[in-house]
Amino acid sequence: MSAFGKLRTLLSYSDRHPPPLTKSRAYHHHHRSNQSSREGSFVDVPKDLLGEIERLEKLFTIDTAKLKQITDRFVGELEKGLSNEGGSIPMNPTWVMSFPNGYETGTFLALDMGGTNLRVCQITLTEQKSEFDIIQSKYRLPEELKTGDADELWEYIADCLMQFIETHHGDTSKLEKLPLGFTFSYPATQNYIDEGILQRWTKGFDIPGVEGHNVVPMFEEALARRGVPIKLTALINDTTGTLIASAYTDTKMKIGCIFGTGCNAAYMEDCGSIPKLAHLNLPPETPMAINCEWGAFDNEHVVLPQTPYDVIIDKDSPRPGQQAFEKMIAGLYLGEIFRLIMVDLHDNHETHIFAGQDIPKLRKAYSLDSSFLSAIEEDPFENLSETAELFQSKLDIRANGPELELIRRTAELIGTRAARLSACGVAAISIKKGYKTCHVGADGSVFNKYPHFKARGAQGLREILDWPEKEDPKADDPIEVLAAEDGSGVGAALIAALTLQRVQAGNMHGILHPENFK
Ligand code: GLC
Repeated sequence: MSAFGKLRTLLSYSDRHPPPLTKSRAYHHHHRSNQSSREGSFVDVPKDLLGEIERLEKLFTIDTAKLKQITDRFVGELEKGLSNEGGSIPMNPTWVMSFPNGYETGTFLALDMGGTNLRVCQITLTEQKSEFDIIQSKYRLPEELKTGDADELWEYIADCLMQFIETHHGDTSKLEKLPLGFTFSYPATQNYIDEGILQRWTKGFDIPGVEGHNVVPMFEEALARRGVPIKLTALINDTTGTLIASAYTDTKMKIGCIFGTGCNAAYMEDCGSIPKLAHLNLPPETPMAINCEWGAFDNEHVVLPQTPYDVIIDKDSPRPGQQAFEKMIAGLYLGEIFRLIMVDLHDNHETHIFAGQDIPKLRKAYSLDSSFLSAIEEDPFENLSETAELFQSKLDIRANGPELELIRRTAELIGTRAARLSACGVAAISIKKGYKTCHVGADGSVFNKYPHFKARGAQGLREILDWPEKEDPKADDPIEVLAAEDGSGVGAALIAALTLQRVQAGNMHGILHPENFK
């Protein structure tokens, strides 16, 4: 076992820029807050391509006024989601009813069914404040399972759990049932913490017969069939896990965010501000973590500026009309937006990029993930030679100098739009809660790996919230978005521990199966 507690240091906003390269030629094109690591030069770009770049800039740039307008509506939509009437943002109560104090203890299993991998962990919250030990195994979530049969999915998960327990505990027949926190990161109605009625699949999943049903019995039946000695004590969302795990080591953490395959946030509300729970007569000051499911923000397209490419993304997804906000930000979609633009500029515009070349690889939907865009944005060379190699090796496409400039700018525009839009959500929760200063714990591949995402997001927050320019560039922002602790591992364990504690103290709100908490 390896001690991981407090190991992860909080990353700062400032991205590391590559060493300065040859200074570029005059650059007279507008660069709207794109935090590029390379000067770039469009001097040699032919007029028609330049026109395309300008068209894309108009489509994808979100200026300060627009950011503010989006944020305004966002605040109202958060409120609406908590009301009886409801809105597009689900604002799901999670029955996580306190922050950890750092002194939680116990050993728990955690299962994370995210969007890309399946992870099983065993977490021991130790006596030392805010410390924990963790062992974990990752399993690939086969692509076919995401759109296949529900039984196959649950059986695959049960097999992974069984394998993990056999490896780490040996003979399972003599084991007492181990308590498990299940991170099920999709919108789910929870009348109880040990229940999750799937509202709808997101992130490209499309498994029939699950939407509208409680997934816990399906999961438990698969465990029972295999004889896996586990009792589920909490079903959680990755954002709630991120919030709680981050608050375990940093009491300033008030919001948990995921910018990964999907995009979402959770925060702590008080029960008195949740009209849709009023009938339960919970004490008004009692905290209740809310899984916002903000990916659904503006499904009705009142404020989000949709480009023709966003329209196609939505139309061709398994759930058109859903997750409008997420489809502009999340890692699942960034590469696809880029691909659609490239194909369009090859086929439909006068520019005809990659003229005379066949582009069968580029035509394959979802063949480029967000790491492809990351690589383009990370190319440190003035002549974009790494990008040229990438196009050649991955797509069999030869891109000339002007095309490379267009490629780079397109990636910047998509990445910048995503980061700035994400700031609207963070700002909206902060405004709603009246947080002038706080920490926001963030996790996910886009947050952790996409170049400049943090800095661009921070710049967006600054514009929305009218912070003055910093005198010391190293000084903290009033609201800092920081790398979070492991939400679906440590967070799930903490939530299981907190739930056990409150049940033992007699708070039985939102508990369906008290017998599992003995
Ligand atoms: C999607 C899911 C949500 C999850 C997010 C990040 O938006 O609906 O539950 O938190 O992705 O994984």
